[in-house]
This record gives sequence, C-alpha cells and structure tokens, in this order.
Amino acid sequence: MAASRALMLAVAVAAVGFSGATDHIVGANRGWNPNINYSSWSANQTFFAGDLISFRYQKGTHNVFAVNETGYDNCTMAGVTGNWTSGKDFIPLPGPGRYFFICGNGFCQAGMKVAITVHWSDIGPQIYPPPAPAASSSPFAAGAWPPATLTAALGAAAILLLY
Ligand SMILES: *[C@@H]1O[C@H](CO)[C@@H](O)[C@H](O)[C@H]1NC(C)=O
Ligand SMILES: *[C@@H]1O[C@H](CO)[C@@H](O)[C@H](O)[C@H]1NC(C)=O
Ligand SMILES: *[C@@H]1O[C@H](CO)[C@@H](O)[C@H](O)[C@H]1NC(C)=O
Ligand SMILES: *[C@@H]1O[C@H](CO)[C@@H](O)[C@H](O)[C@H]1NC(C)=O
Ligand SMILES: *[C@@H]1O[C@H](CO)[C@@H](O)[C@H](O)[C@H]1NC(C)=O
Repeated sequence: MAASRALMLAVAVAAVGFSGATDHIVGANRGWNPNINYSSWSANQTFFAGDLISFRYQKGTHNVFAVNETGYDNCTMAGVTGNWTSGKDFIPLPGPGRYFFICGNGFCQAGMKVAITVHWSDIGPQIYPPPAPAASSSPFAAGAWPPATLTAALGAAAILLLY
C-alpha cells in the first residue's frame, strides 16, 4: 500500500517534471556533423536536469558516445558510459553535472564533440522515471545510462520528496 502510493506519487512528479523538459537539438538545424563549433552551440543553451539532448545525424556514418572529460579532450573512449546509433537519439540528462559526448567514428577530431553543464531546475530537483534495470549487476558497467552516481543522487532526491 505504502509502496504503491509512493510509486503513484513518483509517477505524478515525473509527469510534472516532463511537462517542462526542453529538447536541446545539438547543432540546431545543422545537426551532428563535422566542422561545427559545438562550444558555441552549447554556450547558447541552458540545460536543466530532466531535459533531453538530442542528436540528429546520418545513421551508420556518425554515432554518439558519452565519455568523461579525458575522452572529450583527447577524442578517446575514456570513461564511456553510453552509446547511441539510431540517427535520431534522445538522451535524458538525469541530473546536474558536466556531460561529454563525442562521435565514435573518427569524426571527433573534426569537431564532433560537445560538452555541456546541466543544472538543477530552478523549481528544484525533478524526478524522472528510473531507467530499466541494467542487464549487468555491476554499477560500473560500461554503457550504463544514466551513470550510476547520478542514479544514486536521484534516488536520494526521490526519498526526500516522498517523505
Ligand atoms: C568555438 O567557439 C568558441 C567561442 O564560442 C571559441 O572560443 C573556440 O575557440 C571555437 N573553437 C574552434 C575550434 O574554433
Ligand atoms: C543563440 O540563440 C539565439 C536565440 O535562439 C539565436 O538567435 C542565435 O543564433 C544563437 N547563437 C548561436 C551561436 O547558436
Ligand atoms: C589527454 O591524454 C593525455 C595523454 O594522452 C593525458 O596526459 C591528458 O591528461 C589527457 N587529458 C585529460 C584532460 O585528462
Ligand atoms: C576518465 O576515465 C578514464 C578511464 O576510466 C580514467 O582513467 C580517467 O581518469 C577519467 N577521467 C576523468 C577526468 O575522470
Ligand atoms: C554500446 O552500448 C551497448 C548497450 O546499450 C553496449 O552493450 C555496448 O557494449 C556499447 N558499445 C561500446 C563500443 O561501448
């Protein structure tokens, strides 16, 4: 009973959170392609937890990898936490922090890299539906999105809201 009420509340909060979510289309109408300055693009955006970042590109030619700052600076897979390949990828930004995305097909060196800073929403932490359980039980499994540290932070935020 308590658990189902908690779940219903979590779903309701998620619905509220989603109503204000922004989809940040990387590169706007230029999309995710080489020889675009994505620092200029990201400097012109304000990202809040619960927003989406989306990548539009030719499937098979490009892709998207979430890496850490080392991977971003050096165009490597260092600290990879996720990858997307559909050509139209919507990636949730679950919590505040720095996020780094690169193209994993060799085009990172041609500028296909973007770094963003995500802030808590000004109406406070917003809860989103938790991700499906990862296939692996390791919290550090590569390809796990969102990163385990963020999942833990959001769990704490959910508990604060529910009690
Ligand atoms: C991209 O634009 C930023 C300013 O928005 C500038 O500081 C940076 O040097 C540019 N990068 C390249 C590779 O031109
Ligand atoms: C920044 O955003 C404004 C308003 O949406 C737009 O007019 C401008 O072209 C953008 N600048 C860049 C560098 O994307
Ligand atoms: C980039 O890689 C070099 C070695 O290849 C490393 O020394 C450096 O620390 C890396 N950049 C960052 C920001 O870690
Ligand atoms: C990125 O991940 C690599 C591999 O796990 C690690 O060696 C490196 O220190 C990380 N860089 C940062 C800035 O956390
Ligand atoms: C890409 O992500 C999937 C999970 O979505 C994972 O199984 C795969 O190993 C990842 N590939 C790379 C190259 O990291």
